[in-house]
Amino acid sequence: MPSPSPAPADRASIPRHVAIIMDGNGRWAKQRGLPRIEGHRRGVEAVRTATYAARDLGVRTLTLYAFSAENWSRPQDEVGALMGLLELYLRSELKTFVRDRVRLQTIGRTADLPDGVQRRLAETIDATRSFSDYTLVLALNYGSRTEVVDAARSYASAVAMGREKLNDSSWEAFSRHLYTAGMPDPDLVIRTSGESRISNFLLLQAAYAEFYFTPVLWPDFTKADLAAAIADYARRERRYGQTSEQVRPDAAAVK
Ligand code: FPP
Repeated sequence: MPSPSPAPADRASIPRHVAIIMDGNGRWAKQRGLPRIEGHRRGVEAVRTATYAARDLGVRTLTLYAFSAENWSRPQDEVGALMGLLELYLRSELKTFVRDRVRLQTIGRTADLPDGVQRRLAETIDATRSFSDYTLVLALNYGSRTEVVDAARSYASAVAMGREKLNDSSWEAFSRHLYTAGMPDPDLVIRTSGESRISNFLLLQAAYAEFYFTPVLWPDFTKADLAAAIADYARRERRYGQTSEQVRPDAAAVK
């Protein structure tokens, strides 16, 4: 697989971690008079495209919101179809991920997913765990609120066992108990389909992320769309609570 690395000078303008809320599969299908599941099927193709596009563009971690904790309340046949697609996808990607050195990780309450999906996930995660150049993270049965609840429980249990100290608790210590422990925070969060919501996705991790909303429906999302989002990101000034002069001493000198 081609994966030209960007020139060193370009690296600061390439987000290390891109996270995407893939939205619009249903509308894509409706516009064509097709069943919703056909939109999801085409959504899987867009997942494949985005996975390699992100890597080609120099991104190191790509997180995709594939199934939210709230998605269980969709019609049962749609939930079943999504789980079926997920299992099929994992089965077909295993060899490709190993060949292309794509590490697969997940965030979310994956223990509640169907057994078949859990088995495929475990097998792919295991087969790709030694790869370190590029990581695909699937958010599955994910929601930030359940993540905080799970992290609080894990933190409390670590305190009880003497592995964390309650008195010098810090964000660094607490974040070790989030699903995303060990992953970089997202630099850029993209949502497709013209909606401008964050929908319980990486609420804590995206504290300093840049957001990009595009009207493109997820099945139509191409490498060019991802490149446009990254070009927009490159024009942003990330200040992390500081002033423009602090983060860009060169700008202060010109003034
Ligand atoms: C939102 O579109 C999308 C989802 C709820 C699921 C995303 C799933 C996929 C892209 C396919 C499965 C993923 C993998 C990794 C195999 P929507 O149905 O809410 O669209 P709408 O808002 O237009 O109805």
